[in-house]
Amino acid sequence: MFTSASLVGRHIVLGLSGGVACYKAAELTRELARAGATVQVVMTEAASHFITRATMQALSGRPVFDSQWADQPPAGMAHIDLSRGADAILVAPASADFIAQLAQGRAGELLALLCLARPAARCPLLLAPAMNREMWAHPATQRNVAQVQADGATVLGPGSGSQACGEVGDGRMLEAAELRDALVAFFQPKHLLGRTVLVTAGPTFEAIDPVRGITNHSSGKMGFAIARAAAEAGARVTLVAGPVHLPTPAGVRRIDVTSAKQMYDTVLPLAPQHGVFVATAAVADWRPAHAQVQKIKKATSALSPQAAQPPTLELVENPDVLAAVSALPPGQRPWCVGFAAESENLAAHARAKLERKRVQLMVGNLGPATFGRDDNQLLLVDAAGDTPLPPADKLSLARQLVAEIAARLPAAASPVTPDSTTESPRTGAPQ
Ligand code: CTP
Repeated sequence: MFTSASLVGRHIVLGLSGGVACYKAAELTRELARAGATVQVVMTEAASHFITRATMQALSGRPVFDSQWADQPPAGMAHIDLSRGADAILVAPASADFIAQLAQGRAGELLALLCLARPAARCPLLLAPAMNREMWAHPATQRNVAQVQADGATVLGPGSGSQACGEVGDGRMLEAAELRDALVAFFQPKHLLGRTVLVTAGPTFEAIDPVRGITNHSSGKMGFAIARAAAEAGARVTLVAGPVHLPTPAGVRRIDVTSAKQMYDTVLPLAPQHGVFVATAAVADWRPAHAQVQKIKKATSALSPQAAQPPTLELVENPDVLAAVSALPPGQRPWCVGFAAESENLAAHARAKLERKRVQLMVGNLGPATFGRDDNQLLLVDAAGDTPLPPADKLSLARQLVAEIAARLPAAASPVTPDSTTESPRTGAPQ
């Protein structure tokens, strides 16, 4: 059983071809090992100019292979033996020349040879390109990348930014932690392939004046975990986030908002473009009727006893984002999941909210107890009954919830592609 961010039990062949990004392969080896994988390093001759075998051997705890002529494995057939027990081959960095070799089916060195000789049906090949931006943009490279993808390889990244050569642009290898997460995601079941999912997360902030406001303790962790889990499960995901400082999950389009009104105005037009809506945000129920343009001053009582009275806040109710989405007409209405953060009587309150908001699934949790924590426990409430999800970390629960949602989705619910501004996932075809 694999836990949340874990590669326990996975055996990964990590291939290094030549490039400055070989320095990141050292950290990547540690990240994969920390996540529980066993790592077998295979290097090309070019890679050995950038990082030593000794370093990679020490970090992986296994002898490094770099030649098909060495008689290390039992029968001296490293190109066959190395991939047979592997769950995946990850080539990081994958140079332009290495990708060109793969595209042509050439096998001049052990690493290219074992990629070609791998049992493709059970040993996937993932490539993390790393090269100068001009090399990446060159039509020959783009042609080769398209070819290796057509041949079944998965391309991770590349990222964008400053490069070793001093230039700035596309072609940076993803960071070690990003590649680890991409590999973890790769192994997740694709329950939501072809679906589109809209998620709200975090608190909202309702301004009183330019420096003060009403908010709550929601950390956004559960909503971000659900966005990540849905993306890992193959969905195209849009995340509308209140004010939180959490990294955007890979491949997820994120739109930041502040107030409940902004969340409502953002979500309502997006909702009909999505097949599933998961409302995890802790939306403030009320906002000040009149946010002051200037800071409200605290007058001193000695100067003006009357002005020393604290101000009285008049509140008005915020629109209910979830209820509004679930009230959209058929054909525009996504399959709706609500969250009920309660401090008591979880099952009863969650069922009341299921009915009141007319949603397909309500997920109850004891809100105040879990705000900001990394773990949680959930109670799924729907027309069929109550299903508890026992305590676990939020990412594990998010993955279970995604599987539960997928199992309940009507097969006929044909998702609509979100508008063309949708960011393309970082895992997949480069744009
Ligand atoms: N919700 C929403 N917009 C609001 C209030 C709530 O979209 N203005 C959504 C939440 O994201 C959640 C669900 O409605 O999915 C339930 O939110 P909760 O705060 O638990 O319920 P309330 O309707 O606010 O009821 P109460 O505060 O009385 O428990």
